[in-house]
Amino acid sequence: MKYPAVQYHDYLQLESLLNAQHRQSEKMNNPVHDEMLFIVVHQVYEIWFKQILWEIDSILKVFTSPKVEENSLGLAIARLERVLAIQKLINGQIDILETMTPMDFLEFRDYLYPASGFQSLQWKLLETKLGLTEKQRLTYFSGPFYQHLKADQQEVIKKTLAEPSLFDAIEKWLERTPFLQADGFVFWQEYKTAALKMLENDKQIVSTNTRLSAEEKEKNLNGLKATEQSLNSLFDEKTFTELKNQGLFRMSWKSLQAALLIFLYRDQPALQLPYRFLSTLLDLDEKLTEWRHRHSLMAHRMLGQKIGTGGSSGHDYLRAATEKHKVFNDLFNLTTFFIPRSQLPVLPKEIREKMNFNF
Ligand code: HEM
Repeated sequence: MKYPAVQYHDYLQLESLLNAQHRQSEKMNNPVHDEMLFIVVHQVYEIWFKQILWEIDSILKVFTSPKVEENSLGLAIARLERVLAIQKLINGQIDILETMTPMDFLEFRDYLYPASGFQSLQWKLLETKLGLTEKQRLTYFSGPFYQHLKADQQEVIKKTLAEPSLFDAIEKWLERTPFLQADGFVFWQEYKTAALKMLENDKQIVSTNTRLSAEEKEKNLNGLKATEQSLNSLFDEKTFTELKNQGLFRMSWKSLQAALLIFLYRDQPALQLPYRFLSTLLDLDEKLTEWRHRHSLMAHRMLGQKIGTGGSSGHDYLRAATEKHKVFNDLFNLTTFFIPRSQLPVLPKEIREKMNFNF
């Protein structure tokens, strides 16, 4: 087959791409130089969002299939790492936009009403596909969070909300983790014994420490008691469910157990890829939070206490969303339940063999 000759400019559709920067200020007969930067930076973000969604969609496909093959897990990690590399780049782009001063921004800001980042379909899609639910979001307006989007785009979000998110798919995948219970070994029971023993040991150290005053001892022991309570909540399904209903956990009991097993025994060959996947996921969530934080600081610097063009409280909304709009918070909190390697229950030989590659 003879391949047709491809032309650089045509292949990349530069005609449309490079002719898509139209300053509103020019249309209003008051051309402002810096509006070009504002448009270009936003467009570059949207193009990178497109690539991120492309990768996330392919990862979703892997995890929503009934069985996640080991080799597709490696591919999913490679793609998540690519997303991370993009995130690092786009988080840094704020530096470029901040070369525009608030006074320069004011020159054309009024022309942009009521356009706003709230109308970014791709951003809302990204958050939704990752697993940020409607319930979790800041309730700033009375209507749904996607109300600022165009009517057809709202339908796209509604459809996405009805599909499993990456959070849902990963939860199911974790629930299917083997090794939690096998060959007479019940991970959770063994772990409970080890964790409570560690706490008893800590209590002993505090109680016999002659350098601590009675008051300091009491304070330390109360702290350990709180850790014990939180550990117990994890061991008892009923208590866990109550806490989950109160919003303290989002992941299921079983999936959290599996994630803990993966984090604690990550050196075992069978758990290395799942461990890398989960920790890259944490990196991704962290980078998103970093972006939200930098964007909120930029908005503060540009607007002070002014409201946003989309009608939110501006910087205050963005700062609160930075804190609240996290997807994999449970995985971050899991560290609370870590115990030192030396005190981990030893895995039975049969399980270790199953977790290893035997040639
Ligand atoms: C001068 C620079 C910027 C300022 C002052 C600014 C300000 C704001 C404000 C105040 C909001 C809250 C919504 C509203 O009331 O309008 C917002 C939302 C948003 N902005 Fe920006 N922004 C800037 C640049 C950017 C850039 C470069 C992007 C890149 C895509 C961006 C993406 C977004 C997104 C996605 C939202 C929605 C956030 C959410 O739904 O929680 N913004 N922005």
